[in-house]
Amino acid sequence: MKISALDLKKQIAPLRQEIDAAIKEVIDNTGFILGATVERFEEHVAEYSGAKYAIGVSNGTDAISLSLLALGIGPQDGVICPSFTYYATAGAVASIGARPVFADIDRDTYNISPESIEKILAKKKFKVKAIIPVHLYGQCADMDRILKLAHKYKLKVIEDTAQSFGAEYKGKKAGTLGDCGTVSFYPGKNIGAFGDAGLILTNNEAVAKSLKILRNQGNKDKYYHLVLGRNNRLDSIQAVVLDIKLKYLDEWNKSRQEAALNYNKNFAGLNIKAPFVPGYTTHIYHQYTLRMPKSNKGVIDYLQSKGIDSRVFYPVPLHLQKCFKYLGYKRGDFPAAEKAAKQTFTLPIYPELAQEEKDYIVQSVKEFING
Ligand SMILES: Cc1ncc(COP(=O)(O)O)c(C=O)c1O
Repeated sequence: MKISALDLKKQIAPLRQEIDAAIKEVIDNTGFILGATVERFEEHVAEYSGAKYAIGVSNGTDAISLSLLALGIGPQDGVICPSFTYYATAGAVASIGARPVFADIDRDTYNISPESIEKILAKKKFKVKAIIPVHLYGQCADMDRILKLAHKYKLKVIEDTAQSFGAEYKGKKAGTLGDCGTVSFYPGKNIGAFGDAGLILTNNEAVAKSLKILRNQGNKDKYYHLVLGRNNRLDSIQAVVLDIKLKYLDEWNKSRQEAALNYNKNFAGLNIKAPFVPGYTTHIYHQYTLRMPKSNKGVIDYLQSKGIDSRVFYPVPLHLQKCFKYLGYKRGDFPAAEKAAKQTFTLPIYPELAQEEKDYIVQSVKEFING
């Protein structure tokens, strides 16, 4: 059996007529960038998330860079982010000339460790001005403790919600607790565009105003440039596609949660660690991540040989990536991140997976573990 990590054809098929009609309307109206369609989508996201403002942008990476700029972070400022995340979190920091300051993760949740953040802050190095907790795999980082540290050290907080849009922290939507929350609508996300797209959530009116100016070449009125902005606008075609998909997001996330419960039940008693979900957060299982006692090497190869697209997110923690060599980190600096990279692996978990495919995945994992 062949089981891919994602099947967008199956997701899109039942929505096809609605999406085709919406795209046709954009083409007929020829309003391709920002404008009424983007505003309507922004309103719907604000309503869905409970944030006061939602600002559509070009992708999740630019969402982080723009948020940093709008919050006054600039060259030479330090920004704490986890070492175990997708490159873009730290790449966005570096792209505005600021310095990524890596922290280790919590061993159980894989999210940034408040203890590690506190250790860094106590050293008073690197002119730290902000923290970017990443809500990895679909569940929220320990926001109360992170916000408390941010308050104590007067830091801005940008929640990287690329993988967790729709998850909740103590009843509030991920991305609405810090100064800004950034979302990615990369096609493979739980809600994905037909290309690149992203969004920023904020409750701060001044920040929202600044973001709207920054995403559009620093324009307040056309050809009058207030600040050094960028071209980070959202396309109307992406906005109408996402607006349709938004209606199904909770249903899709629920189906991922059910699939995860089913996996958990089947793997109980095996010598592997299922995802740990603390009481303060829900989990929307962008990734279903398991952990081997020693190494993920054999299991990924075995599952691939059975036609199952198992992966590791992420095989090399950021402090050991070549591109960040200039920051001076070395192996051993963040043991929990290094272990997670060596031991974790993911299983396909999207809503369109058939029961027989899920059964086959469970059976294949059991075969490997039980030898
Ligand atoms: C944790 C995290 N941050 C940021 C991004 C960047 O988003 P985008 O690909 O839309 O630029 C991603 C996307 O893969 C991500 O997973």
